[in-house]
Amino acid sequence: MATTRRPMMAANWKMNKTVVEAEQYMAALLPRVAGAEGVDVAVYAPFTSLPAVARMAEDSEVIPGAQNFYHEDSGAFTGEISAPMLLDLGIGSVVVGHSERREIFEESDDLVARKTGRALEAGLIPVVCVGETKEERDSGKMWGKVSGQVRAVVEGLGDVSAESLVFAYEPIWAIGTGDTATPDDAQDASDKIRNLLKELKGEDFASGVRILYGGSVKPENVGEIMSKPDVDGGLVGGASLKADSFIALVEEAQNHAS
Ligand code: 13P
Repeated sequence: MATTRRPMMAANWKMNKTVVEAEQYMAALLPRVAGAEGVDVAVYAPFTSLPAVARMAEDSEVIPGAQNFYHEDSGAFTGEISAPMLLDLGIGSVVVGHSERREIFEESDDLVARKTGRALEAGLIPVVCVGETKEERDSGKMWGKVSGQVRAVVEGLGDVSAESLVFAYEPIWAIGTGDTATPDDAQDASDKIRNLLKELKGEDFASGVRILYGGSVKPENVGEIMSKPDVDGGLVGGASLKADSFIALVEEAQNHAS
C-alpha cells in the first residue's frame, strides 16, 4: 500500500552555537523556509538556545526541537530537563537515543525506550536514532544491532499514530566523517526497519512512520539519498550549522514532497 509520508529535514546543531549565534541563524533561516510547502523543517538546538529558537519559530512552520531530555517530569535529577519544561518553551520534538548519547553517555536501549514513550505521551515527536558501528557492519552485525534498537523502542509502545514517531538511521561510521552511506545502504536499512515495524505494529503503522537518514548528509548528496523510496528525509549535523547550507537541504527536500 502506497502511503504518502511528509518529508522532514532536521538540523541537529549538537553542542554548537551561543544564543546570539542561534538568533542570527534563525533570522537567516526563517524567511527562506517560510514557503517550504510539504516538508517538515526542524531545528534541534542546545538547551541554552531553545528559548530563543522557540520564540523566533513561533509564527513559522519550523519545529523547534531539543536534542535530549529525561523521562521523569520533575525531581532530584540534577542536570536534567523534562518534557513539561520543553513543552513550556513551545518545543515540538526531541531527538532520542542519538549515537553520541548512547556511546559517550552510555544510554541503554531501555532508557531510550522510556524516553521515547514519555515523549509520545507528552506530545513531543521523538526522533529515535539507531545505527551500527563500523566494526558491527564489517562483522555482519549491522541488522542485529539496529533491529534490537528498534525492537526495544517499539515493543513497549501503546497505541500511537505513525505520524507521531520518527526514526533516524544514522550509521555511526558515517557521522561527522564525510564517509556517507551509499543511497543503497540508506535504503536497505530503512527498508529493513520498515519491515520490522510492519511485523511489530502492522502495515498501516509501518507505512506511515518516517525514517530519516543521518551521517555526512550535505546539499550535494541529499537528493540521491532522498530519492530512495524508504528514506523520508535527513537528520543533519555538520552541514546544518550554516543557515545557507541547511536552506539548500530544505530546498532539495521540497523536490521530494508530493
Ligand atoms: P553529520 O551530518 O555531521 O555527519 O552528523 C549526523 C548526525 O549525527 C545528525 O544527528
